[in-house]
Amino acid sequence: MAAPNVNIDWGAGKITRGDWRNIKKLLIQYDIRTLLEFGSGLSTEMFSMEPQLERIVSMDILGWHIERMKIALPKVQFILYKKNEVPEISEKFDMVFVDGPAGSRFHELTAANRVATKVIFCHDWARGQDRVMLDERWKTISKNKVFACI
Ligand SMILES: C[S@@+](CC[C@H](N)C(=O)[O-])C[C@H]1O[C@@H](n2cnc3c(N)ncnc32)[C@H](O)[C@@H]1O
Repeated sequence: MAAPNVNIDWGAGKITRGDWRNIKKLLIQYDIRTLLEFGSGLSTEMFSMEPQLERIVSMDILGWHIERMKIALPKVQFILYKKNEVPEISEKFDMVFVDGPAGSRFHELTAANRVATKVIFCHDWARGQDRVMLDERWKTISKNKVFACI
């Protein structure tokens, strides 16, 4: 199904319509059923409307942001974590979507590499230490899962 074009405020700190098209392709191509996200927002709303996603966990560093989103999206489990710490996650997910927070992607990508079984999708990835870390770990990541970044 094409991305809807009404009442959606794409871009400006959120995913764009083009991002969503690419994400949707991966959801279908890799039969993604379980998804972990770092950085709650529009992407979380879009994921929650996908019937094929049976489990969605969204992690964010802002408590007030989570509290607000939780009310609107009961299908999603929200988890608060600390910026610049590698979040402890005991579960595996088909896909991990990394989109925040700015300047801390190293930690989120480290966690993603541990728990993603099929796909890691990193949004706005080419930033400072995140880029260095990815260059170092690229081979390990790409060996056993798809790594997409825009
Ligand atoms: C780059 S945004 C993207 C969020 C989401 N993936 C999307 O597509 O909309 C990621 C971060 O912005 C932060 N954020 C959201 N609303 C905010 C606000 N009003 N002020 C400051 N930070 C905010 C949140 O902590 C979130 O993790």
